[in-house]
Amino acid sequence: MTTTATNLYILLSALLFHQSLTYKPVVLIHGIMTGSGSMELIKNRIEEKHPGTIVYNVNRFESWSSLETMWHQVLEIGMDVANISSKHPQGINLIGYSQGGLIARGIVETFANVSVNTFISLSSPQAGQYGAGFLHIVFPGLVKDTAYELFYSRVGQHTSVGNYWRDPYHQTLYESYSVYLPYINNHIQSAKSEDFKKNMLRLKRLVLIGGPDDQVITPWQSSQFGYYDANETVVEMRGQDIYLSDKIGLKTLDKTKRLHIVTVPGVNHFTWHMNVSIVDNYLLPYLD
Ligand SMILES: *[C@@H]1O[C@H](CO)[C@@H](O)[C@H](O)[C@H]1NC(C)=O
Ligand SMILES: *[C@@H]1O[C@H](CO)[C@@H](O)[C@H](O)[C@H]1NC(C)=O
Ligand SMILES: *[C@@H]1O[C@H](CO)[C@@H](O)[C@H](O)[C@H]1NC(C)=O
Ligand SMILES: *[C@@H]1O[C@H](CO)[C@@H](O)[C@H](O)[C@H]1NC(C)=O
Repeated sequence: MTTTATNLYILLSALLFHQSLTYKPVVLIHGIMTGSGSMELIKNRIEEKHPGTIVYNVNRFESWSSLETMWHQVLEIGMDVANISSKHPQGINLIGYSQGGLIARGIVETFANVSVNTFISLSSPQAGQYGAGFLHIVFPGLVKDTAYELFYSRVGQHTSVGNYWRDPYHQTLYESYSVYLPYINNHIQSAKSEDFKKNMLRLKRLVLIGGPDDQVITPWQSSQFGYYDANETVVEMRGQDIYLSDKIGLKTLDKTKRLHIVTVPGVNHFTWHMNVSIVDNYLLPYLD
C-alpha cells in the first residue's frame, strides 16, 4: 500500500471502530409462552447491521414461567437490567416484544438506576387486553366475556395475563382487583405514581409499534395506548385520559417529539419478531 492508502485505511478503521463503540447495548425481552430463542433473529440482525453492538437477550421466565405475575417478572428482570445498565454509563436501549414490552415498561417506570435511551415496545398490550386471541394461547377454554370472573379475583391475579386483562364492561372489578396495569398506568394513584412518571420522562425516545393485522393484541391499538371505551369502541391514545392528563408522561414525550407511533399493516402477532424487514425498517433506525 502507498502511504496515502495506508493513512486512509487507518482513518477509515478508526472511524468504523469509533462508530461501533457508539452503538448502545440492547436488551431484549421475549413474549409469553416462549423464550430468548424467539428473539435470536432480532439479536443476530442487530449484530450484523450494527457491528459491535452488545445484545443481551433475557432468558428468565421462559415458557410456562412467563405466566408468573408481572410484578415478579419486572422486579427480577429489572435487577438484571440494572446490573447491565450500571456497566454502560452511556445508557442502553430496550426492546420488549408482546408481554415483554409491558414488562419492559414496568422496568422503565420502576428502576431509577436503569438508564434507557430508546425503549421500543413491539406489539405489546400497553393499554390492556380484551380478546380471545391472546387468551387461547394459554387458556383454551376461556371466553373473553367471562374471563373476568377468573382474572378479577385474588387467584386470577397470580397470572401475568390477569394482571393486564382489561374488560371494558367490568371497569370497577378491574380497578379493585388488578394489581399491575392500573398502577403502572397511574390510573390508580399510589405512592409510586410520581416516580413512575418521572422515570418514563427520562426516556430519550419511546417507540410504540403495532398494526391492524396483529390478530392477538385486542384491540390492536392497545400496542399504542389506544383502548376500548365502555361500549367497545376504540379510542386512540390521544383521546385517552392517560394521555390527556399526562398520567405517565405520554403527552410530554409527544410534545417534545420523543414519542414515535409506528403502525405496520400486514403483520400477524406471531411474526413481528421473526421478520427481518421489521428489524431493518422499524427497529434499527431507532438504535444508536
Ligand atoms: C448484579 O451484579 C452483582 C455484582 O456483580 C452480583 O452480585 C449480582 O448477583 C447481580 N445481580 C443480578 C440480578 O444479576
Ligand atoms: C438498582 O436499584 C434497585 C432498587 O430499585 C436495587 O435493589 C438494585 O440493587 C440496584 N442495582 C444496581 C446495579 O445499582
Ligand atoms: C354505550 O351505549 C349506551 C346505549 O346506547 C349509551 O347509553 C351509553 O351512553 C354508551 N356509553 C358510552 C361510553 O359510549
Ligand atoms: C414483514 O414485514 C413487512 C413490513 O416491514 C410486511 O410488509 C410483511 O408483510 C411482513 N411479512 C410477514 C410474513 O409478516
